[in-house]
Formats: sequence, C-alpha cells, structure tokens
Amino acid sequence: MKILILGSGGREHTLAWKIAQSDQCDKLFVAPGNAGTANIAVNIDLAVTDFDQLATFIEKESIDLVVVGPEDPLVLGFRDYIESTGKLSSVKIVGPGKEGARLEGSKDFSKQFMQKYNIPTAAFATFTREGINDAVEYLNKLTPPFVIKADGLAAGKGVLICEDLESAQKGIKEMLLDEKFGEAGKKVLIEQYLQGIELSVFVLADGKDYLILPEAKDYKRIGEGDTGLNTGGMGAVSPVPFADQEFMRKVEEKVVKPTIEGLRTENIDYKGFIFIGLMNMQGEPYVIEYNVRMGDPETQAVIPRVENDLVDLLWKAAAGNLKGTQLITTPETATTIVMVAGGYPGQYAKGQEISGLDSQTDSLVFHAGTKEQEGQVVTNGGRVLGITSLGKNIAEALKKSYITVDNISWQDCNYRKDIGQDLLNL
Ligand code: AMP
Ligand code: GLY
Repeated sequence: MKILILGSGGREHTLAWKIAQSDQCDKLFVAPGNAGTANIAVNIDLAVTDFDQLATFIEKESIDLVVVGPEDPLVLGFRDYIESTGKLSSVKIVGPGKEGARLEGSKDFSKQFMQKYNIPTAAFATFTREGINDAVEYLNKLTPPFVIKADGLAAGKGVLICEDLESAQKGIKEMLLDEKFGEAGKKVLIEQYLQGIELSVFVLADGKDYLILPEAKDYKRIGEGDTGLNTGGMGAVSPVPFADQEFMRKVEEKVVKPTIEGLRTENIDYKGFIFIGLMNMQGEPYVIEYNVRMGDPETQAVIPRVENDLVDLLWKAAAGNLKGTQLITTPETATTIVMVAGGYPGQYAKGQEISGLDSQTDSLVFHAGTKEQEGQVVTNGGRVLGITSLGKNIAEALKKSYITVDNISWQDCNYRKDIGQDLLNL
C-alpha cells in the first residue's frame, strides 16, 4: 500500500516511524515532513493546505491511504475536497470531513454538541459583538478564575484564564471589538472554570465503531512546576496512574460512547482520530475540548505503546471496518521529553546545528522542528525533538529519556526537567 502522511511535527515522525514498520506499507511519503521523516520516508515539499497540489500528487503516485496529522487541512475541508475529486473518491483518508472537524474548528459548535448529547463539560455561554454588554454582565455573576475562549482556531492562543474581572473584560473586548483573533474571535465563549488534573484521551473512529488508544498526560507550560507561558507541549507520559480502570470506564460510558453516537445522529461520518481533552474533577471526567487529530507530544508517548500493526488499524478506521479489532498495548510506561529552542514559545533562533543525534541511545528520538542543511541536521522550529523511552515504570522511562537528552545538544537548547514528577507518588 502507498501511504501519505500530512504534517511536519513530532506527531508525524512518530506516525511515520510506526507505519514504516508495517508489512502493508510499500511506500511512505510525508508532506512536508522533517529531517527525521526523511530517514524513513520520502519527504514531499508540499504544504498541508495546498489541496490542489496534494490531489495531483495523490493521483500521480496512486496513494491508497492519507493520514492527516494536523487540524488545519481537516477544518479547511481536505476530505471533502479529495472526495469531490471524482477520480480520487476511492482514496482512504484518516481524518474527518469539514463538518466533523467543527468539533475542533468551532468551540461553540463543540459545546452545543456536548450539551445536546449530555456529555459532561463546563457550563458556558456564547456572545457576539452585539452582545458585549451581556457578556460583561454574565462575567459579573461568576467567580474567578474566568475562562474566555475565542470560538475558532487561534493557533493555541485563543484561551484566556483570567484571575480578575478586569483582565477578563479586557480579553473579551479585545476579541469582540478589536478583533484580535480576526474571524476566530467573532464569537466568544465564557466558561465555568474546571478544577482538577488534565488528561488526554485518544479515540480512533470508523464512523460506527471505535478503539480507545492509550491515554496520556501532557505538560503544556514552558516552566518547571507548570509555570510560565503555554506551549504546544513540553512532554508526555503514558499510561497515566490516575486514569485507572474505573475512571476510564466512566470516560467510555459518559464521553466516548455519546460522542460517537452523537456524531452518527448528526449524520457525520467521522473516520479518524478524536482527541478528548478531559479534566478529572474528583474522579469524574469533564470534557475541556475535542481535537480532530492526535495530540503532540502525546502521540510520541502513545503510539510506541501500541503493539498492533498501525497500518491495519488506520486502514480499518478509514474503511469503516474497525468492528471486532482488539487493541494490543504494552504495559510499559512511555515518557517523552520535548527539547525546544531557547526563547520558545517567544522568539528563538533557527538553523542551529544539532549534535549527538548519532549517539547510542535506549530512546526513540522523534524529530519535530528539524531540517537537513548541507548534510547537517539543524533546528527549524521551536519544538525540535521529542525523546521517548519505555520502561517498567515512570521513573525508569524518565531516566532513559534524560540520559538521551544529555547526549544531544545545540546552542541554547531547553527542556523541562520535571516531566512526570507529579505522577510519581500517585
Ligand atoms: P484549549 O485550547 O481549549 O485546550 O485550552 C487550553 C488550556 O486551558 C486547557 O488545556 C486547560 O488547561 C485550560 N482550560 C480550558 N478550558 C478550561 C476550563 N473550563 N477550566 C479550566 N481550565 C481550562
Ligand atoms: N498536546 C496538546 C495538543 O496537541 O493540542
């Protein structure tokens, strides 16, 4: 089978690494990919949103299966575009169409969906520019912290958690009146604050049936002890000790099943990943958000724990044929440490030579922001590498990951030294 992965991050390198191990994979392409995917697949210099060029490539290479990594192409209608291109209608795609992608593309849509299908989530209200006075009045009735969200995609910056009324009002005005996030902020949600520990749950759906993949915990802030600015993720651990059988049973009954059934009722033929961001509030799961893709860096910890042939799972999901498939996972723990460029998530340098990539390691080194330049691998983004190790417990896996991290460097590299520490004594 000929397979194309869309994307260029650590998530895509991990998917490529696993897919390349399958006997069913005859040829693997990644568009646009990074220096890591170049070692195991053929990188194609096409943007993930260049649907015209992608369709031409898919046709020319007779691609059988496309695995969409990031949300942008899905929200913009990649599946719909390919399906409407007559000669490509038989190509299988992992990723929902435009309608299903609204679960991530519109927070108002996803909250209404949760409300309609009784899926536990924070109470909320939605406001537009005309309703700005109602929004301010609504805030007055709440107690801090205040959660303010832009409705649409805002590159991870559209969520404000404000400690005081003044900054919450300012945030709302900036979105609705000053259009700080453009179209994405034309609707604003105000939400109840959920207090608890976060968890990422991943589902692979085929339109009717589903598999729940291993769960993971992500570390979003740049600084140790969860301080400082939000990032795309500084590390991940899977499995998560507090996500025991009882908790995961509640997640399946109260969240996963009604989500899949709700999508069917809405006539949304959802074939792809659903990433459910959950808050564990005193043993009860509440949905913070849906994403229509895998998480990054969670994928780097989740996929190495899957023992099935990934191509088999992805093909079955894309073909509506998952029924009866059993997921096999290793009981080992996976930990991922993300190595980032100094200054990230603010300004940072690119093009720094990375040393130590050839050193012997007990870890998997997944590339994110890297590229090859004159025979050298150099940094090419804020998040540069994800170092994953498997161990019999969190401590053992972490030890291996940090040994590998110590052997790799570039000028001004940074990483968190406390990944997984909060889970050690649970
Ligand atoms: P999102 O972009 O929706 O993932 O939100 C970013 C982060 O904000 C989440 O990962 C949570 O840490 C936090 N967050 C979002 N909504 C809430 C909420 N209702 N209560 C508490 N924290 C929240
Ligand atoms: N790690 C969070 C995300 O992928 O959105």
